[in-house]
Amino acid sequence: MSAISTVRTTDPNEAAGFIIRGGVVAFPTETVYGLGASIFNQTAVRKIFEAKGRPSDNPLIAHIGDVGQVELLALELSADAEKLIEHFFPGPLTIVVKKSEAVPAIATAGLDTIGIRMPNSELALAFLRACGTPIVAPSANISGRPSPTTWQAVLEDLDGKIDCILQGEPTDIGLESTVVDCSVEPPLLLRRGAVSIHELRAVVPLIRELASGEAGAEKSPGLRHKHYSPRARVAIRRELPAGFAGRAAFIGMRKPEGVFVETRVANSAEEYAAALFEFFRECDRGGIELIVCEPVPETGIGAALMDRIRRAAEG
Ligand code: TXA
Ligand code: MG
Repeated sequence: MSAISTVRTTDPNEAAGFIIRGGVVAFPTETVYGLGASIFNQTAVRKIFEAKGRPSDNPLIAHIGDVGQVELLALELSADAEKLIEHFFPGPLTIVVKKSEAVPAIATAGLDTIGIRMPNSELALAFLRACGTPIVAPSANISGRPSPTTWQAVLEDLDGKIDCILQGEPTDIGLESTVVDCSVEPPLLLRRGAVSIHELRAVVPLIRELASGEAGAEKSPGLRHKHYSPRARVAIRRELPAGFAGRAAFIGMRKPEGVFVETRVANSAEEYAAALFEFFRECDRGGIELIVCEPVPETGIGAALMDRIRRAAEG
């Protein structure tokens, strides 16, 4: 694919103009930056997969600027789906529901379901409303790389491959949305995120988690693919492995012992989560060979954080 010039702007209306003309635009949300195209423009949706190098069997999430747009996308809503929308939209929750006929197969990788989310960010909502149509958007990174939490990280991966970057602040949460499959009974948590299982069960008590060892791949195609990986090796611990003499970095919540080229100490699990993916990228830029990630208790955002760290350690 030949390089195109990627326009940078802070104006949501200018960014929406590129969508309306059939382009692809990266935009900030409260979780991570997404790479968007109109859900009803199949040529534009195809450009998302090309720019990211994303496998075509991995479905996209539709982003809406107004709760009323759910009915353009969903064939039917269960009572549980309705409750989740009422409590968590706008916010870092994606619900998977049976898709309407209007949604093209390319957006959902041929599945008969679609993920829907309404981001809770002023700039994202202004952009989505200016687009006037639901926007499918995966995270705006090269496939397999950590999701971008700054517009600079988007530029690093996608400059020359996409039409526009809507420049906002670094994202608040820094980890991708919680995904709940509401097309099955009872609903199933497919991906952990800032909305915790505890908060979900306060609204829908029977939500199920994938049991360990249960094949998640058939349920969430994204689980099949490599994710969140920095080039450096990731180790879940607090100190350097015995005998390690290379360039190592540390991220966690207490000051580490030992010699690290880079150290990031967060004051809370929220701050740790918000910093993680950008820290991975910084380490890659600095030629770090080993990233030591301190484990945290798996409550609240800590469960999502440990999920991403484990996947990075496996990648
Ligand atoms: O926070 C987020 O969700 C970000 C921002 C940009 O909104 N988006 C994001 O998209 O993380 P992506 O494509 O990187 O991850 C979407 C995940 C994948 O694991 C995908 O397999 C799953 O959601 N997913 C999407 N549609 C699905 C469906 N119909 N059924 C099951 N899983 C689905
Ligand atoms: Mg992604």
